[in-house]
Amino acid sequence: MIKLNYRKTDSAIIGADNGLNLEEEFTNYQEAITNIITSLNQRKDKPGQNLQWMNLGYNEETVWYVKEFASMVRNRFDNILVLGIGGSALGGIAVTEALLKPYWNLLTNEQRNNFPRIFFLDNIDPDSMNGLFDVIDLKKTLVNVITKSGDTAETMAQFMVIRDKMKKELGDDYRKHIVATTDKKMGILKQLANQDGYKTFFIPDDISGRFSVFSAVGLVPFALVGLDIDKIINGIKDMDLALKNTDIHQNIAAQGALIHYLMDKKLGKKISVMMPYSSRLKYVSDWFVQLWAESLGKEYNNNDEKINTGLTPIKALGATDQHSQVQLFNEGPNDKLITFIRVENFDTTLEIPKEFEYTGIGYLGGKTINELLNAEADSTKVSLVDYSRPSLTISLEKIDEYNIAQLLYMLEVQTAIIGELYNINTFNHPSVEQAKNYTYALMGRAGYEGSAEALREKLATI
Ligand code: PA5
Repeated sequence: MIKLNYRKTDSAIIGADNGLNLEEEFTNYQEAITNIITSLNQRKDKPGQNLQWMNLGYNEETVWYVKEFASMVRNRFDNILVLGIGGSALGGIAVTEALLKPYWNLLTNEQRNNFPRIFFLDNIDPDSMNGLFDVIDLKKTLVNVITKSGDTAETMAQFMVIRDKMKKELGDDYRKHIVATTDKKMGILKQLANQDGYKTFFIPDDISGRFSVFSAVGLVPFALVGLDIDKIINGIKDMDLALKNTDIHQNIAAQGALIHYLMDKKLGKKISVMMPYSSRLKYVSDWFVQLWAESLGKEYNNNDEKINTGLTPIKALGATDQHSQVQLFNEGPNDKLITFIRVENFDTTLEIPKEFEYTGIGYLGGKTINELLNAEADSTKVSLVDYSRPSLTISLEKIDEYNIAQLLYMLEVQTAIIGELYNINTFNHPSVEQAKNYTYALMGRAGYEGSAEALREKLATI
């Protein structure tokens, strides 16, 4: 199981001005944490609670259908092209970047074991979209269009462009090159899928995009590129069981949530840095940023009181950011809680040759890149303690399906628990909806004419 070390947030290590008396706080909050964990587990099956993501470790039917589809299309495509944005893309990017061999798309077919290359289009930049058409052959591409609402402008615009190109290149056969992942009942993508006859996977009700990585949203692309989705499911399941434990001393998601919450409430630390020491985990930070920002950035609490709460997430990468952001983390405002992710065993070992023995870099010879990276992680931790800066460390024994699933699921539960501590709705995102509606209005969608006029007037004055 993955582990959390929270000692470097304790006042005994970093002093009372910036640290917490953890034993006391754990005792004070034990009852609240017990109630939150019990309540989340009791509410998870109730419609409208947005907690269905807590059941994704037990969704055997979807896993079976996804595996069946992946084996049916095995060897038929050179490329998978995923269209989606926000929660419909970031989990897929984080997991494939972590688990596929580095530089996957540049490897030969043989090196990829004949699994396809994978591309994610999670923005609507005309240059990068046109550029992509220069490097992939649509005739050999399977497009997975993912949108829970079924009508997000960015995703549907991408889809319209690509569908049109595919129709021109493939004729009627284009339909066999499209897989839709969307809501069961609502949305335009669902209607199009029915009408055009695309293979379709459904996202269960009551799952916000940022909590959907282990639904068909992620499982379909993961299976298509050969990741072991059974191991992913086992990782979620085992972590889910571990996180049902209401004893805060045994529950790492509750520990992470409470420490972040108290660092904000008691010590004014409103910035959360996610800093893996592994290039393969770089995009876990992007995924975490959305999870944390959209879930916790709220204007009102559940009692309708205006609170404007939220913890600002920052992504960083070790060791790269030791030469960029760590100066600020050490010496700038003491307003951050840093979470390191440490990998104990990398897939490979890379030795540094014993050369330049009588020079200032001779000490590196005979060591490994692995040792160097983890020594850098340790030195950053120690220097943060020197400056009385709090940090948490999540340790993974290695990067594989089982551990990555545990990591992401643990961070989801941590987010749900801290949302309860703040007494907010963790799962809505009214501002995202507002921006979507403004876009619809400005782009002339029927039904939005009134707000389009008001928007144009406002735009002229700002
Ligand atoms: O977390 C969320 O629900 C959002 O950020 C969505 O993932 C994002 O807006 C994309 O929405 P959709 O999947 O409906 O296209």
